[in-house]
Parts: sequence; structure tokens; C-alpha cells
Amino acid sequence: MIPEPSGTTSIDPHWWRQAVVYQVYPRSFADSNADGLGDLPGITGRVQYLRSLSVDAVWLSPFYPSALADGGYDVDNYRDVDPRLGTLADFDALVAALHDVGIRIFVDIVPNHSSDRHEWFRAALDAAPGSAERERYIFRDGRGDHGELPPNDWPGHFGPSSWTRTTGPDGTPGQWYLHLFAPEQPDLNWDNPEVHADFITTLRFWADRGVDGFRVDAAHLLKKDLSEPYRPVETISEVSRYPTDGSHPLLDRDEVHDIYRTWRSVFDEYSPPRVAVAEAGAPPSRRGRYASAEELGQAFNFELLEAQWDARDFRETIETCLATARASDSSSTWTLSNHDVVRVASRFGLPNGTDLNQWLLSAGTEPVADAARGLRRARAAMMLMLALPGSAYLFQGEELGLPEVPDLPPEVLRDPIWLRDAGARKGRDGCRVPLPWAADGPSFGFGANGAHLPMPAWFGDYAVDKQDGAGGSTLELYRAALRTRRALQSTESLEWHEGPDDVVWFSRDNGWHSFTNFGLEPAALPAGEVLLSSAALHGQQVPGETTVWFRV
Ligand code: NOJ
Repeated sequence: MIPEPSGTTSIDPHWWRQAVVYQVYPRSFADSNADGLGDLPGITGRVQYLRSLSVDAVWLSPFYPSALADGGYDVDNYRDVDPRLGTLADFDALVAALHDVGIRIFVDIVPNHSSDRHEWFRAALDAAPGSAERERYIFRDGRGDHGELPPNDWPGHFGPSSWTRTTGPDGTPGQWYLHLFAPEQPDLNWDNPEVHADFITTLRFWADRGVDGFRVDAAHLLKKDLSEPYRPVETISEVSRYPTDGSHPLLDRDEVHDIYRTWRSVFDEYSPPRVAVAEAGAPPSRRGRYASAEELGQAFNFELLEAQWDARDFRETIETCLATARASDSSSTWTLSNHDVVRVASRFGLPNGTDLNQWLLSAGTEPVADAARGLRRARAAMMLMLALPGSAYLFQGEELGLPEVPDLPPEVLRDPIWLRDAGARKGRDGCRVPLPWAADGPSFGFGANGAHLPMPAWFGDYAVDKQDGAGGSTLELYRAALRTRRALQSTESLEWHEGPDDVVWFSRDNGWHSFTNFGLEPAALPAGEVLLSSAALHGQQVPGETTVWFRV
């Protein structure tokens, strides 16, 4: 049994059920050595900042050795640190520093694909078709007289095809391999016991180093049906069009759950048991299985990431997510932002229904986001989310009200979505621009030099040092909301209250009410002691686009 990390006081095995988890995108958080890339010592240097937020855990997006073909989700070695980001000793120091202040840590596990630089994939390319080395991935012969056509026309997430042809050392074209994402991310073969065993080693490697939890990337993709004749696949990206009976050949297949049941037995070797959250693009009716206590324990709900600014949309989404979590005896998860989507303060500054990709392609000009409105709504949405039962996942910079950078010049874009789709989709770089820590200075305090993505001049307005201690700032609002949530959080119950049409109003079992006015007209504030408000109240009126917490 692994002992409880020092500094964490309770051994509550359910600590994660209502945790607030702060996502750090390591390369864009803080750069300690002036090379333009954020790194692990940079995060360790900001632990007091994380503590000042009252978050329960930090989730680190991949920090493993990687060519960054997909922002680190192309992993060269699952059990090491990218030398540009630090060393394993730096990782241990970060874990110790977080645990000392009572913050737990999740790491990202990327089991669907490795990178093409992983030693297994290099060995597979050097080995012959049918070899044990190739059996760790998904290699197939091509169609056509000379194998010149891909085995089938399955689409990829980042481009039109999920197959790439290999080329031998002498330039001769060979077999094709499957990659549901970029060609630099070959899919592993989860029908091979060696792959299972290696990931168990990886889970234990990090759990033994004190990691408390795992975020499981693309958890629904691991098992595939490659029996021939191959079945047609119309979409792998649109969850709303997925079958709900597990019949899609590439995703959300029933067999995937055997993997997570095994992982659970590994998590339960530790005290407290290690925890996990599935990034499983499965329809709500099937998401609960990933989140069950026998498997990963929790699954992301991405509905709030996409919800329109609309009271009914929010309420329906919340009800669906709560019901889904209840059915699997899990707790719900909530998230308004992450490293894959347009930042919430910009999204809510655009009219409902705006095509965000078109908006990005127009460099944020069509239409121009209403920054004040976006921020006002983002603050209100955050308070609504933090009052809900379950866990909330925040993305770095959200606490600053940071907008998207929609006008990054094409030459700096690194997202394979942009590079692979011939400029048809702008991709996710605009939410991954490094954090502004200081209003002035090179890279706004991110590091002593430049940053790996250009930071616009207006970033200084959102800097931590400008907001720190400033009454009414978004940073101070987040701090107050997170402190209040921690003080009031109790059971996972929620009771709805009926208000005007534009209002979402509910309470928790200790008299904590959350009241969000989605409309533009003020709404009457019900009786109670006001605890916190996302915008100034006007007497007994809750202005439009505002959340107020009060206690009865
Ligand atoms: C989901 C991750 O969040 C995303 O950033 C990544 O591109 C894909 N999975 C592939 O790993």
C-alpha cells in the first residue's frame, strides 16, 4: 500500500467526487529557464498561486518526451519527462510541493496512440509485416494492385484518412498503419496483451511516484473491430451521430470496458485508491459505464463546453448530466473550458449559434466578440457551475477571464487540425497561448524571454499581477467563489426552484442557493443572505447575465 501524500490530511477515498481540478497545460503555464516553453519547475514555482485559488487538484496535460505533433498527445515515452520541461526529479519535486499544500495531482494518460518516435513504433517500422513488433500497432496491407490504396476509407479526427503508408529504408512503399489522429500518432493494438501490460506498468510508475489520479485521453477509442470486410464509417468526430449500441467499428465498443476494469484493480492497490476521469466521447446513455466505480470512476461531460447562453439549454444539460452520473453511481463533472476549445470568455461574447471555426478563420472579425459581455457571462457561468454537485474542471487562464487569441498568424499555428486539414479548420492554438503573469515585461512574466506562441499586447490587461488583490477582478471572484464553495460544499443533492423563464435557480442541502439570470432584464432577488455575486447587484434586483449565491 502506498502511504497518503504528506500534507493531505484526510484519507477520504471519495475526495474526487466534488473536487475542483485545475488543468495546467505545461508548455504554456510558466517558463523557468527562459527557453520559451513552460516547464515543470515553472509550475512548482507557482504552487502558492494554485493554493491561493483553493483548488483541490491539478491535472497536468502531457509533459512526456514528444515532438509536439499534437501538443504532447504524441508521446515518445510514457515514463519520462520531456527534457525541455524538466526531469523526473523535477516531477517528484512538483508532486511534493503540491502535496505539501494539500493539492492532489492528475496526469494525462494517452493509451489510444503513441507517437511515431516511440521505440515500439520505430521497431515496428524496422520489422517485417506480420512480426511481433508490428503487432503492437495496427498495420494492414493496402488495396489495389500494388497496395497503393489505403485498406479502407475510414476518416481521421484530424484529416480525411486514418491510414498512412509506410516506406522502407530503401524507399519502397510498404504496409499501411492506422492513426485515428495525426500520422505521427499511430494507434496501439489493444488486442495485444503486451500493450495492456505496458500500460499497467505506466499506471504503476506514476502512482508509485505519488500521482493521485489519471485523465484518460480518448478513452472510448481503444478497442476496434478490424474484421473484414471492413464496415463503413461515416463519422468519428460527431458524437451526436454515434450509434448507442456499441456497434461502431472504431469507438465506444463494449470490449473497451474490460480494460478499465483491470485498471480499477490497479488503482485499488493504492491507499487511497487512485482515481481517474475518462475523456470518452460516448453518447450520454453509454458514458456512465466509463464512470462506474468498477471502471474509471468519472467521465467528462462536455455539454457545458458547447452549451448556448440560454437558461433552458443550461438546465436541460445539467439535468442530463446529473441523471447520467446518478445512473452509474458516479458524481457529475462540469467544464466550461479546456485546451481543445475556444476560451469561454470569447465564446460567450459571440451570438448563440456562431460557427466558432468560421469565427477563428476570420481571425475573430466576423463577428467581433463582445468582450465585456463574454466576460460577464463567463463569470456568471463559472459561479453557476461551481455551485453544482460534482467536480468542476477549470482550464488555466479561465480564472483571469482570458479570451481566445483568434488572430494568431498562420505561420505560428502548430495544431495538426490546421496543418492536416489544409487550413479548413483553424485549430486550438488560440486557447493555448501562454499565461500572462505580469502586466509588463517580456512574455508578460511567462518567462524571461519570448514565448512559444506570440502573446498579444492586450494580454497584459489580464495579467495575474494586475488582478491580484484588485476588488472586482475575475481572479478575485474565482478565489472567493472557490473558497465559498469549499466552505459550503456538503452532499451531492440539488433542488430546483422555479423562477422567471430566463433564470436557472437551484439550491444545495445546506441552504446554499445559486440564481443565474440569463436574460438582459433584471430579475427580483429572492430573500436570503447574499454571499457572492458575479456582477454588482442593484438593490434587490439581479441584473442580466449575472449569478448570485445566497443563503437561506
Ligand atoms: C484529446 C485531447 O484533449 C486532444 O488535445 C488530443 O488532440 C486528442 N485527444 C488526441 O490525443
